[in-house]
Amino acid sequence: MHVEDILIGMRSGEPQPDAAIEAFVTGVTNGTISRPQAAAWLAWAFRRTLNTQETVALTRAMTKSGHVMRWPEGPTLIDKHSTGGVGDKVSLVLAPLWAELGLRVPMVSGRGLGHTGGTLDKLEAIPGYRTDLTEQELDRVLADVGCFISGQTAELAPADRILYALRNEIQSVESIPLIVASILSKKLAEGVQRLVLDVKTGTGAFMQKYEDSERLGRAMVDVAKGYGVSCMARITAMERPLGIKVGNGLEVEESIDALKGGGPDDLREITLAFAEHPDAAKVLASGAAYERFARMVRAQGGSLDKPLLGSGVTKVVVEAPRAGILQAADARGLGRAAFILGAGRRRAEDPVDFGVGLEVFGRPGARIERGEPLCTVWHRDGHALDEALAMVRTAMPIDDAPVVVSPLLQTMID
Ligand code: URA
Repeated sequence: MHVEDILIGMRSGEPQPDAAIEAFVTGVTNGTISRPQAAAWLAWAFRRTLNTQETVALTRAMTKSGHVMRWPEGPTLIDKHSTGGVGDKVSLVLAPLWAELGLRVPMVSGRGLGHTGGTLDKLEAIPGYRTDLTEQELDRVLADVGCFISGQTAELAPADRILYALRNEIQSVESIPLIVASILSKKLAEGVQRLVLDVKTGTGAFMQKYEDSERLGRAMVDVAKGYGVSCMARITAMERPLGIKVGNGLEVEESIDALKGGGPDDLREITLAFAEHPDAAKVLASGAAYERFARMVRAQGGSLDKPLLGSGVTKVVVEAPRAGILQAADARGLGRAAFILGAGRRRAEDPVDFGVGLEVFGRPGARIERGEPLCTVWHRDGHALDEALAMVRTAMPIDDAPVVVSPLLQTMID
């Protein structure tokens, strides 16, 4: 099929046949479709929005644009994906917990962009931890440890790498069909049998409106099932950060607490909900999942005996300016504060600072006394400190009105 016909078809606004979508993805992957041509196709897809059949065809073609991993016979292969939030460290706890429960977890994760953190950035706070394992190394770690958490290899859904970067550049990320195809192509190429999806909703989420989160969850479950993968999505609240710590190294610390049977209640609650296993609570409380995590870290080149990267940061405590009820711990505002301190990145190639971040003690709805610590801000040499402090104060208002806090675990879609 000629490139011109693929583009004219998409430009027409009419639903496109599977063959045209497959030819588009093949052309993007082998370079016969140029970046401007691919960007135009994406912009038209964004404007019109794709129907279910087109979304399935796009997901399938993107999954097959590279190598679909195949694993030897054995225990169930499972993975989880989160649409991203502030303080969302669940993957660091869940992958070793599942492995400890006898499942296999080939987890390919991503980096943070904007105010939400990325699993790979967090793990790279561990000295030596490699997130660029080759497919042979992934095979070995999965066989030896039962889980890995690594980055997308060059062979895994290469079309997504090109298309996602272009969508970012042309401000066309927020399209449900394009998000579905992007996320699922990577997850389906992992060769998993079961996929659980944490679809965040609220101020700190990618999809802020509940109805959009539900539509995204429904669409991902339908497409994954159509592909023969057992799948469940759960909508979870992202109005306040998950757990207390926000920032790369800080989140590794909190994950380790959870893996040892401690850590904050909300992190434990959500991890156990996604674990979907009758023995998950017992195993997590026993601390055995920490040993599994330590094995995974060693197998991926890291050391937990050395301090986490990013030392040399300084803290400032934000205290409550008055007594009253904490009205919010706004996830977006707090995520932005951590971001400008250096915990996040503007462009994919920017470095992150592993040491900076926040510890958010105040819980919305709680009674607060004047002078009580609301949040600790970890900064490096005062970089962006004043702006971050102002953001934290705005994100955590105190008043006398009672507050209704939405439940962490919301609708389940399967
Ligand atoms: N994460 C992805 O991997 N792809 C998207 O399109 C959005 C979020």
